[in-house]
Amino acid sequence: MNQIPEILYGKTGQKTWCIVGASRGIGLEFVRQLIAREDRIFATVRDTNAVHASGLWAQAGGDHGRCQMLVCDILSEQSINSFVTELARVPNLKLDYVVINAGVLRYPNRATEFSFDEFAFHLHTNTIGPIITAQRLLQTRIPIGTIVFMSSDSGSAQRFLEMEDGFAAYSASKAALNQAMRHMAAELKRKDDDTILIAIHPGEVATDMANIELGWEVDGIMTPQESVSAMIPVIESKGIQHSGTFWTWENKQYPW
Ligand SMILES: NC(=O)c1ccc[n+]([C@@H]2O[C@H](COP(=O)([O-])OP(=O)(O)OC[C@H]3O[C@@H](n4cnc5c(N)ncnc54)[C@H](OP(=O)(O)O)[C@@H]3O)[C@@H](O)[C@H]2O)c1
Repeated sequence: MNQIPEILYGKTGQKTWCIVGASRGIGLEFVRQLIAREDRIFATVRDTNAVHASGLWAQAGGDHGRCQMLVCDILSEQSINSFVTELARVPNLKLDYVVINAGVLRYPNRATEFSFDEFAFHLHTNTIGPIITAQRLLQTRIPIGTIVFMSSDSGSAQRFLEMEDGFAAYSASKAALNQAMRHMAAELKRKDDDTILIAIHPGEVATDMANIELGWEVDGIMTPQESVSAMIPVIESKGIQHSGTFWTWENKQYPW
């Protein structure tokens, strides 16, 4: 008798997503929209008791529904490894899409002022954690369709946003994320691995991260709903020919 519940295999046509950093903001909204679409989701938090996540987990049915909660703190190699090990234990798992969304902005972070630890904190969370998480997932036998790195227009070297006072550590961490992702995509191509890697800028989104007083006008602020409903089709539209590229929520290729 097959003792593994059908839900663990996924239904025909149902996509499986893994959202890393899903407790609030853009990550939480990915989970909300994917649940509504009836996709299957593995969503990570770093605190299972986080108050802002509890309503969603109740709606999602906790560990036994289509949305399974896992723990991952991308600042900890041990936590990343435990998360990947737990995921690798799921029978017959194929991940169609992995969205590495977790990120931080401690504002302001000026290069003339920030401490060693403040700069390291941005790099550890926004660059090293996401890249190592992707690397460990790729080292499993789990087939992975696409890995999406949540980047930012602040990380573009070519379209340098000079007016962004107080964004030095943040933008450097996203630029480094972009560059490491490009290398990872090139390495995968050389290894004949057809996992697609892309970086995406979600737009200016009204989340906790964006809830800061800036000295300049921010145009086109969107809700998380608007940003995520635009990003999902962008993510789904990318093939192996797009691996190692940088996109916006509007499906425009963004300059490095
Ligand atoms: N909002 C924007 O306008 C905007 C623009 C460009 C790019 N982005 C990028 O979009 C992503 C999501 O941002 P958001 O606006 O949704 O921000 P947010 O509301 O502050 O949410 C950040 C998410 O990252 C998680 N996170 C932070 N550090 C983590 C860690 N060490 N391990 C695991 N998870 C961690 C948080 O979990 P906790 O609840 O545990 O803290 C939370 O779920 C970030 O990568 C951000 O840089 C946002």
